[in-house]
Amino acid sequence: MIWPAAIPLKHVVAFTKKDHAIGLEGKIPWHHPADLSHFKKVTQDHVLLMGRATYESLAKPLPGRFHFVLSQTRKIEKSTVHSVVSYADLLKKLETFSVDFPSWSERLKSGIAVCGGEKIYLETAPWAHEIFLTEIDEDHPGDRFYNVDLSPFSEVSCHSQGPLKFRHLIRK
Ligand SMILES: NC(=O)c1ccc[n+]([C@@H]2O[C@H](COP(=O)([O-])OP(=O)(O)OC[C@H]3O[C@@H](n4cnc5c(N)ncnc54)[C@H](OP(=O)(O)O)[C@@H]3O)[C@@H](O)[C@H]2O)c1
Repeated sequence: MIWPAAIPLKHVVAFTKKDHAIGLEGKIPWHHPADLSHFKKVTQDHVLLMGRATYESLAKPLPGRFHFVLSQTRKIEKSTVHSVVSYADLLKKLETFSVDFPSWSERLKSGIAVCGGEKIYLETAPWAHEIFLTEIDEDHPGDRFYNVDLSPFSEVSCHSQGPLKFRHLIRK
């Protein structure tokens, strides 16, 4: 599959520094308000892509964002939430996005923010142009991990706040 160059793909992820854990039993195993603010800032006004489990872990759709949810078992058609059954289905929907969702078409130019989970990060990694990565210097148990190879990316900025390190990586 060829990802459309006009739509930059970015990963937005938080993981533990030691073993790259991202989730446990359907939830995020830590609570860091600074990371929630960072996630909001990075994804605001964006089109998001996430798996069904990640979508179901949200209390409600995220305001100011459009959600594409990958699922072969659940069909969702809400104003800002639409399910897709495959990446091919996603690409098809992106072709008519500006007609189907005119109020979002300008915002698609900022790219699509991939928000998990484990398999979706891995599957979309070859197309990812940049990664907004929060590295957490704490031990948390996990059953889902960010297994993406970071070596094709270089760090362009980084700042720390307590145990959190906010890293921005761009493909070399
Ligand atoms: N720390 C972080 O930054 C972060 C970010 C996101 C999520 N998380 C955590 O990660 C966990 C959730 O992630 P997860 O890996 O378990 O699940 P997930 O990727 O969110 O959802 C998995 C589901 O997505 C659908 N799916 C995946 N690949 C697909 C494909 N190629 N085509 C069609 N559908 C596809 C399937 O849904 P169907 O079964 O309906 O077909 C699959 O069961 C939670 O613990 C969550 O809190 C953490």
